[in-house]
Amino acid sequence: MFDACIHKFRTHFPILGTKLPNGRPLIYLDNAATSQLPLPVISAMTEHWTHHNANVHRGIHHLAEQADATYHRARQVLADSLHVNFKEIIFTSGSTEGLNLLASSLAPTLVSPGDEILITIQEHHSNWLPWQGFCQEHGISLGVLGLSPHREAFHKELERRLHPKVKILALAHITNVLGEERDIAFISRLAHTYGTKVIIDGAQTLLHRTVNLRSWDCDAFVASAHKAFGPTGIGVLFIKSSLMEAMPPYQLGGGMVEEVSLGKSFFKHPPERFEAGTPNIIGAIGFAAAVDFMRSEIGDGATKYEHYLSSEMLKRLRSIPGLHLCPVPEHSAGIFSFTVDGIHPHDIATCLNEDGIAIRAGHHCAQPLMKALKTPSTARISLAPYNTLEELDKLEESLRRLQQTFR
Ligand code: ALA
Repeated sequence: MFDACIHKFRTHFPILGTKLPNGRPLIYLDNAATSQLPLPVISAMTEHWTHHNANVHRGIHHLAEQADATYHRARQVLADSLHVNFKEIIFTSGSTEGLNLLASSLAPTLVSPGDEILITIQEHHSNWLPWQGFCQEHGISLGVLGLSPHREAFHKELERRLHPKVKILALAHITNVLGEERDIAFISRLAHTYGTKVIIDGAQTLLHRTVNLRSWDCDAFVASAHKAFGPTGIGVLFIKSSLMEAMPPYQLGGGMVEEVSLGKSFFKHPPERFEAGTPNIIGAIGFAAAVDFMRSEIGDGATKYEHYLSSEMLKRLRSIPGLHLCPVPEHSAGIFSFTVDGIHPHDIATCLNEDGIAIRAGHHCAQPLMKALKTPSTARISLAPYNTLEELDKLEESLRRLQQTFR
């Protein structure tokens, strides 16, 4: 079982052995904000910088050829892990840039005045603002699906709201505040019957699930490396090749043109068309190393272990008087938000920090959801496969002590 070897697994992550200035050992439960990096990822990046650093797509010298091959391999690793074609993978700076690129370059090829774009109330600002901006600029209506207690109710509500004028449905696979996991294969099937294209914000996906985008059949997907054992500043954007060809470039510059002349310029085919300038080569290498690490060290085991840790977490949170869990979705993925009577979420996070426990408090870049939940902020715990039962026990102990203090 995965939990039997958890302590060995944790040795891949030296940062988890950190002690705070007050001597408390770190308990890291803020993985939805960013996850930690294992040594093989750090080593892959150090190795590249130490021995192979050069720009890509430009040079014909030894190092440049090595850098080209490594960057190419990174794209292939991402494509294989998502089960899509190499040419459908664009490297971005993260999920946010991927969603902005889609709103700028894909949306105009699909949507006309009078049409509608649908999102959900749980979306992160990154999957809200680009669509809101696009809709306001182009006279498109933006529909928002509300909270549903169960998956079936959500699917019914979605079906009620879909119609042929809904050209895009953009939603998270796993939501960042409530941790709700959506059934993307079902949603894509349903949306496609109305001709609606499905865009998936997978920012929280890769830490928790292995993904097959072909079987999901979504039209686009974004994710960020740093939320799945990789470095910050690099993300992936998948777009079905049938949609990509019609898309204009998002940014202009070196590396994305075939020919530039006074009158007219010709752009490269995707994916290069969407990667202007020197790309984040080291980020791509780190991202691929994180994918390799996940595959070799965890495989599908993460989901089982996460279900186990999540149910233990819920038991503990539910046993604390005065602690109010935000709605726990029927299908959840290791993310839990809550409030405690009489204690501001920021005070919860500050006091837990004194005990070495890192969580996030605030609106989590999801203010529309906060309004629906009728609270300005929550405290949030987010798990990763390196968390342990002992850490959850310590969290429970701290929360109980905190509650006594504020009584
Ligand atoms: N999107 C990240 C979070 O939810 C930063 O914390």
